[in-house]
Amino acid sequence: MANDALTNSPIEAGYRALTGRSAELDLRSRKVIPAGLTHDSRTLLPYPIHVERAQGPRKWDADGNELVDYFGGHGALILGHAHPALVEAVTRQISRGTHWGACHEPEVQWAELINRLLPCAERVRFTASGTEATHLAMRLMRAFTGKSRVVRFVGHFHGWHDQVAAGSNSHFDGGTPAGVLGGITDATILMSADEIEPVEALLAQRDDIAGVMIEPSGAGWGQVPLKPGFLARLRAATTKNGALLMFDEVVTGFRWSRGGAQGRYGITPDIAALAKIVAGGLPGGAVAGRADILDQLDSAAAKSAGREKIAHQGTYNANPLAAAAAIATLSLIESEDICERAERTAGEIRDGMRRIVIEEGVPWGIYGEASTFQIFQNPKGIALDPATFDAVKLGFAGLKGVKDATLAHRLRIAMISNGVDIMGSPGGLVSAVHGPTEVTRTLEAFGKSVRAMKAEGDIRG
Ligand SMILES: Cc1ncc(COP(=O)(O)O)c(C=O)c1O
Repeated sequence: MANDALTNSPIEAGYRALTGRSAELDLRSRKVIPAGLTHDSRTLLPYPIHVERAQGPRKWDADGNELVDYFGGHGALILGHAHPALVEAVTRQISRGTHWGACHEPEVQWAELINRLLPCAERVRFTASGTEATHLAMRLMRAFTGKSRVVRFVGHFHGWHDQVAAGSNSHFDGGTPAGVLGGITDATILMSADEIEPVEALLAQRDDIAGVMIEPSGAGWGQVPLKPGFLARLRAATTKNGALLMFDEVVTGFRWSRGGAQGRYGITPDIAALAKIVAGGLPGGAVAGRADILDQLDSAAAKSAGREKIAHQGTYNANPLAAAAAIATLSLIESEDICERAERTAGEIRDGMRRIVIEEGVPWGIYGEASTFQIFQNPKGIALDPATFDAVKLGFAGLKGVKDATLAHRLRIAMISNGVDIMGSPGGLVSAVHGPTEVTRTLEAFGKSVRAMKAEGDIRG
């Protein structure tokens, strides 16, 4: 469907009819907030919904529409919304103070939990976000090795700071985005993660590489999965050539398994960046890794190792409220089969969606790992059999490189109109409290949405 025809579409008319209050809030918001958005990935055409409350696997928008939620707090909510254990912990904490400006036992307990769960986590340092965590991890890798360059991969997202701004969602050729210094972009080397051989060759040839950072799921929490063996060979090549390996486990941490992607794959990086689930859905992040690398933050340890102490501040690091939420969440992950439950449900959703596209004769690919589902909408209309679809074969250019935002928005507003909110990629992050009722509702909504898109000429191929 052409863009200019969108406003006359029944899908869009249905969405507008259900979301009048969100439309009003969007207009009001745009007067004071650029684009009416506080995160680029909340973009939705014709306008986003505004949400008022959430509970378990559901949320309610400003018009009172009840939605099964797969945005999951951008992946932070493996226990769903307002889990009773979390509400109790945060409520107890808030009356004891929200910021002590001091060391505290909850931060110790929080770090001990990460240390027990995550294989690489000999030491932990808290930050206020995932962006801060990748920033700190890069500083630690450079300081530890005395080398300047960090290798990263096209399409892999590590937050919004200057060093990782190019190549994740735009400037895939490594060009410098507006507002970013060219020299900073040049301090990283952007590689394709489609094949490991060029990365092995680069590591063997150059002696200025401090480390390699990667989303171990593949770009965008698995939107572009890695080939089997890629991570193991990357681990071997970094070790062989004296470069550090950093896993960005901001999404995969405590979701891919209770030990993150490193626990799931049995491949231990030297250092990892964490956020989202690590802070129980409250603002927070962390860097975890080898003691000798993290101890550069410790004046005495750095001095005795003959190293310069690395500076790191942050008003909200290990904030007590986040610590309370994190301890409640990570304790449940440690003692119960939280990741496994979420993964089982995601598997049922993937299977059900695949059945629907096969039945409807729609050439889309349904895939995803752990507790996620991904929907490849095949914008270029390539020949594709949904029953045997293998995302790995398409690589970055075939998957993320061809993404069509309009098609993704169309699916998302159709799903919202049928009571389900998915991520804009499009795809979803499933929690341990999504169950059979949510799966049924989701598949009904998906079937109706796919049929509506078919009727409006949105399906290519
Ligand atoms: C893999 C990855 N790394 C880093 C970040 C940045 O985290 P934050 O949004 O907490 O700054 C994100 C956020 O979505 C992410 O998905």
